[in-house]
Parts: sequence; C-alpha cells; structure tokens
Amino acid sequence: MQENERKKIVFSGIQPTGNLHLGNYIGALRNFGPLQEEYDCLYSIVDLHAITVRQNPTQLRQNCLKLMSLYLAAGLDPDRSLIYFQSHVPAHAELAWVLNCFTYMGELSRMTQFKDKAQKHAENINVGLFAYPTLMAADILLYQTNFVPVGNDQKQHIEITRDIAERFNAIYGDVFTIPEPLIGKVGARIMSLSDPTRKMSKSDPEDTFIAILDEPNVIRKKVRRAVTDSEALVKYDVENKPGVSNLMSIYSAVTGKGFAEIENEFVGKGYGDFKEAVADAVIAELEPIQARYRQISADKAYLNEVMTKGAERAAKLAARTMSKVRRKVGLAATQL
Ligand code: TYM
Repeated sequence: MQENERKKIVFSGIQPTGNLHLGNYIGALRNFGPLQEEYDCLYSIVDLHAITVRQNPTQLRQNCLKLMSLYLAAGLDPDRSLIYFQSHVPAHAELAWVLNCFTYMGELSRMTQFKDKAQKHAENINVGLFAYPTLMAADILLYQTNFVPVGNDQKQHIEITRDIAERFNAIYGDVFTIPEPLIGKVGARIMSLSDPTRKMSKSDPEDTFIAILDEPNVIRKKVRRAVTDSEALVKYDVENKPGVSNLMSIYSAVTGKGFAEIENEFVGKGYGDFKEAVADAVIAELEPIQARYRQISADKAYLNEVMTKGAERAAKLAARTMSKVRRKVGLAATQL
C-alpha cells in the first residue's frame, strides 16, 4: 500500500438495549479493536435504533453510557476511532429519510429481524421498526464505509444496504461506497444457553445468556446449566449436538483453539470437565474488561470528552456525504 493511500473505512454499531451478552461480544465487539490497526473506524452507540422498541428513558440514557464504557473497556481507542452516539449526528436521520424514498415496502417486509420483532412486539409494530434497515443503511453509507463487522444476524441488513446504495448510484452516479460485511468464521452466531437452536438474544430471560458484566460465579453457574445432550462426547456437530457445538464455538472463539483440537482435549472426559474449561476461559476473557469497565464508567468527564469529540468529528465526515446527496437529488442549497 502506498504511504499516501487513504485507509479503508470500518463502521459498526450496537444498540444500547438490555445487557450486552457474549454473542454481541464474540460476534461483534471483540472484533472491533483489532480493526483499528489497519482501518479508520467509527463505532456508534445506535440509540435511534433502540427506540424502535419502547424504552424506559432513564434506563436508555444509562445504557448508552454503559455501552460507551464497554466499547472503551473492550479496547476501542478514542484517539484512533470515532466513538459517538448516533443521535448526536443528525445526518443519520436525515440520510435515512432520503434512503426511505429509494427503498421498497416489499424489500423491508422480507427482513427477518423485522418479522421476528413484529412478532415479539405485536402491540407496537411501528414505522420506525419497519424502516430500521434504512437507518442502518444511512449509518453505513454516510461514512463511505468499506467494511462492516457484524454477527451473522445482520448480514441481511448489509445486503439491503448494498442494494439501496447500488440503486442510488445507478441513478445519480458514484455517490456511495458499496460496503461489505466482515463476519467472523467462529462465533458469528452464538446460541442461547437454554435452547441452543435459538440465537442468544438480549431480549430473552437472563439465564439464557452470559452478560459481559456477569460476575465470575454467575458465568460459571450459567455455563454449568447450559443445555447439552446425554452422549457425553465433546464433538462439533451442530445438527445433532447444538448445545455442545455452541459451547465449543464459545471456547474456540475465546481460546483460539480449533474444533479438532478441542475434541482431542476432551477425549474420555465428561461434560463436567468441558464446562469448567469453558467457564474458566470465558471468565479469563471477560475479567480484565470488567475491571477496565469499572474504572472507565466512573469517569464521567472522560466519557463526556470522548462522546463530544466523537460526535463532532463524525458530523464533519457525515456532512461531506450529505451535501453530495442533497445536490444529487435536487435539494436546493441554503445559499442560492
Ligand atoms: P445488535 O445491537 O442487535 O447487536 C450488536 C452486534 O452483535 C451481533 N450479535 C451476535 N453475534 C453473534 N451471536 C449472537 N447471538 C449475536 N447477537 C447479536 C450483531 O450481529 C451485531 O453485530 N442493527 C444492528 C445495530 C446497527 C448496526 C448499524 C450494525 C445499527 N446500525 C450499522 C452495523 C452497522 C443491531 O441490531 O445489532
């Protein structure tokens, strides 16, 4: 790469809802830090997405700060990456509106996450929930993003983002960079501990997931209780042994060991030994993050500074794309 070549852009976001869990960590957050070495990264706390489901306002505000502290505790460096709240950069909502006008009802109604959430929140199937993917497309396209690190469940949303961007570019010329998802080989879909055929989810009961901030003894208890099978054989076989395979994915993701190596490690041993090893590995991974979290979350002045600086810098970048979009679609400039 030439010295003066611009670095590629990475964008990702996490919703400040509920408790961040091991699936969010392994599928997404853990991968954010290392990308800072090679790319210009933006990591947003996507609070506008969070309000597509009814939130308690006090709790939402706390969750936003909590998530920012976790970003920092997990190794995101505000000197290298932009860390900010989505709602602090109004261009996200502005571009989302424009993109809504280039998105079809039919494509949005095919989104798996919309169908799931509409079922879970049948009393509140609001327009925001429906248009969720166009706001996500705006997040990504505003910054001319090249790569989007996410878990497997967001793949469909990146695909629709690409479709919308290509549609827009076909009409107006090359306005948006077409983004690609970055999905890890292991751990892109961590399953529930109590039902390993379902995705681990923030909105499910506490005992189905390991929260990043769970105490070590709670983590151990949850892993011990995780549903497996009666075969007492540590073998990766998602079809027939979803529970064991899920624990193996978790173990593999945090230790870096491959599935064959893990199978060998536990030949002739029962699930008891295996689960203790999984719990030890998860605790060893999360404890340092929890310690940093306790320090960082107590420092409100620091959090304020990160949040303000991040939003200012992001707004400047977003304005460049937004002014191009305005010009292309024919919105008059504020100075004639
Ligand atoms: P959210 O907040 O639901 O989840 C945050 C990240 O965690 C990943 N994830 C998982 N990975 C593995 N196993 C699981 N069980 C699991 N559950 C969640 C998600 O794939 C995600 O990467 N729409 C996004 C937030 C968003 C966004 C964006 C992401 C808004 N704008 C722009 C990227 C780019 C969401 O709901 O993630």
